[in-house]
Amino acid sequence: VSKWRELYQEIRTGIASGQIPAGTKLPSTRDLADERKLSRSTVITAVDQLTAEGFLESRPGSGTYVALGAGGPGKLSFSSPRRFASGGTTAPGARQEGGLIDFRSGQPDLSCFPWSRWEKAERQARLKYGSDLLRYAKPEGLPGLRAAIASYLGRVRGLSVDPERLLVCNGTTQAISLLADIFASVGVHTVWLEDPVTADIVEIFRGRGLGIHRAPVDDQGLMTTELEPGGAGGWAGHVCFVTPSHQFPTGAVLSLNRRVQLIENFQTEGAWLIEDDYDSEFRFDGPPLATLASLDPSRVVYIGTFSKTLAPGLRTAYIHLPESLVERGRQGKWRNDLHNVPLIQAALAEFLDRGYYDLHVRTMRKLYQRKRDLIRETFRDHIPGAVFTGDSAGLHGRVILGHGMVDQPFLDRCQKVGVRVYPVAAHAAEPSRGRQDFILGYGHLSFEEIIEGLGRLRRALEG
Ligand SMILES: Cc1ncc(COP(=O)(O)O)c(C=O)c1O
Repeated sequence: VSKWRELYQEIRTGIASGQIPAGTKLPSTRDLADERKLSRSTVITAVDQLTAEGFLESRPGSGTYVALGAGGPGKLSFSSPRRFASGGTTAPGARQEGGLIDFRSGQPDLSCFPWSRWEKAERQARLKYGSDLLRYAKPEGLPGLRAAIASYLGRVRGLSVDPERLLVCNGTTQAISLLADIFASVGVHTVWLEDPVTADIVEIFRGRGLGIHRAPVDDQGLMTTELEPGGAGGWAGHVCFVTPSHQFPTGAVLSLNRRVQLIENFQTEGAWLIEDDYDSEFRFDGPPLATLASLDPSRVVYIGTFSKTLAPGLRTAYIHLPESLVERGRQGKWRNDLHNVPLIQAALAEFLDRGYYDLHVRTMRKLYQRKRDLIRETFRDHIPGAVFTGDSAGLHGRVILGHGMVDQPFLDRCQKVGVRVYPVAAHAAEPSRGRQDFILGYGHLSFEEIIEGLGRLRRALEG
């Protein structure tokens, strides 16, 4: 057992048993390191992990405290198997049958879901709205949630958001389905997609009978020079779907020049851009670049989701629509499923308003950055045959093999040693793209699983 984990276990057990009561101030990491004869980074790792899991909370300018409601004998927040089933940061299901370590992308660390804060938010929402939460509601979403999202996007993304133009949806997946319908109804005939792109997204647009064009991605994101309107109508009738903050799956960030070029191309009546900002919260080297939506709010449809920051099972995402599409959006949502579940919406609004969301995102960002650093360093120092790339962001990166292909024999070798990775080529239209690359998702895996998984991967790479 690593040293940080020993310390982590000791503090966690102390909190759970009630020996270290809620509200207790922890010694500084420096004092703790001196007292235990540990390195400061070991102590910081343990404290960060406990903070991420909600046992400790950091009060800026004051220190680190045992979180209120975090422990004590019999407390749900500690004893609940749903949080700590495996005694670590392993999300249930991450360690699969036969001990397989699955580097699937886009999975947040659900063992850190802030249950006690969520329960508080939910209780408050019930007190505030009572049985209104059980009635039919408006398709666009609860006003309180839309206001909270607008304020969040202003604060964190510098976006000027009108809550009246927000549409709350069941995930980005539904957002894209609704947009495909809306665009088909206003005369759009062609959708430009990044190549590679999440395979489901292609299917959704294709299913609406829209023509699909793909443009390649390099280390600066979508290659905008490869977009060609064709025909006499110019860009009218064209939509381009992009993931500028963190291209899925390559991990590239769209450069500012290309953002400007996209905006210039699509600043035409009848042309639109869809900006999928699915994990911009997790940038590790400073704030993300300006959104496309802030460069041209009239032509850009902006989508955000709570799937990566909180949990995909909440099925909550939102679209910020240009004024001219708001009514179609509401009608489409109403026709689709009337509205999202009011109870979840109201709890989420409280969660945002109380500052719990910002706190959780900050904590998770630190945790994911540490996981990413661990992976990057392990590849650099111990896996000479492959390079871990992708910008310093998100819950996944891309691995490029020095030689050899990510083909069936390689995947079979991975399977045999008990590790699963995902070929980039599965998301590509052009078969030659990304054949030496695979996606490595790490959000949901514990540090131990990452180390074990990378060891197995090395064995698979060695043949
Ligand atoms: C590109 C992209 N955007 C958004 C999402 C999130 O989808 P949802 O909000 O439906 O959970 C995903 C899921 O993996 C994705 O790959």
